[in-house]
Amino acid sequence: MRVLSILLPALLFPLLSLAQQMNGQPWPDVDGHHINAHGGNILKHGDKYYWYGEHRPDRGFTTQVGIVVYSSPDLRQWKYEDVALAVSEEAGSDIERGCIMERPKVVWNPRTKRFVMLFHLELKGRGYEAARVAFAESEQPTGPFRFIRSTRLHAGRWPFNMSEQDIEAARQTDASKWKDWWTPEWRREVEKGMYLWKDMEGGQMSRDMTVFIDDDGRAYHITSSQENLTLLVSELSDDYLDYTGKYVMVAPGGQNEAPCIFRHGPDYWLICSGCTGWAPNEARMFRSKSIWGPWQQLPSPFQGTATGYQDMPANKTFGAQGTYILSTGDRLLFMADIWNPRHLAQSLHLWLPIAFDQSGVPVIRWTDSPWAE
Ligand code: GAL
Repeated sequence: MRVLSILLPALLFPLLSLAQQMNGQPWPDVDGHHINAHGGNILKHGDKYYWYGEHRPDRGFTTQVGIVVYSSPDLRQWKYEDVALAVSEEAGSDIERGCIMERPKVVWNPRTKRFVMLFHLELKGRGYEAARVAFAESEQPTGPFRFIRSTRLHAGRWPFNMSEQDIEAARQTDASKWKDWWTPEWRREVEKGMYLWKDMEGGQMSRDMTVFIDDDGRAYHITSSQENLTLLVSELSDDYLDYTGKYVMVAPGGQNEAPCIFRHGPDYWLICSGCTGWAPNEARMFRSKSIWGPWQQLPSPFQGTATGYQDMPANKTFGAQGTYILSTGDRLLFMADIWNPRHLAQSLHLWLPIAFDQSGVPVIRWTDSPWAE
């Protein structure tokens, strides 16, 4: 009897947690704790999946622990592994406890045989003004990752697709002069590269971000830059720890955040959020035949309503903000966070399959479980 009472929960729990992987509800790991990994990504290595994400405190929003990692054999049962990249206890360190680590993305580099993590870093006590990208690496998928450095981007360097004439026009702009944003004149200046020019010396800002590995193994960093107004797509070096210097601006002035990208046949698809902090907004979608653009904007791929979830219409991305698009071979899953700003640790997960309409355009509808057909 005693043995049974110990064994039964152990046997039942995996089934229970499977049944409980419901969108918009807490997702327990195999120990029964809600998965506290946000803004991250999933990487398959060997026969396991690794889920990296922000460990969020219950109160406040600064990073107290670091980036955590869970593992799973099947994307359904998740085991908490460890803190993959811990905050530092050293005063003045870039990653001192109380900094803000967001949107970690871990990729495997077959050349160096290392796991490389890029993430958005804000320095302790400076709000969101540092706007840096940070690099870390590890030999093991579960870490510990070594913090390498944090930096702004492309100081002194212009996008490779800007002509001498374009650069000259950007040099004539002056961001300090514009008190009224969103006027047609202001927008024209943004398109010319006004904010690129503002940060040319110190380097470009980098906040919400993702990493994309193309079929040829080339890696790209895609990030919200220029006061979150413009995305930058930048090629990473062979070791994924630096930039080659080749980069472009995407949708200048479009205020795109939370970039998520995938490739489907000849098309690259980018799905982003708007810029309203923790509050949900309408997703944006772009298509291109090349990572370098031109990126054409299409309507949001979200359609229908979230059954059983009031106040979560498609035009609010069902209450969520994207973090990554996972390709499992036979399906594409749009992974998102339903933020709970009062208790960030309790923010929920939303994974929705990406379908395609008759003309091959992505469509995302609500499903109660990510595994519903
Ligand atoms: C969101 C962003 C999150 C976090 C939050 C802070 O727009 O996507 O990663 O930075 O703002 O308010």
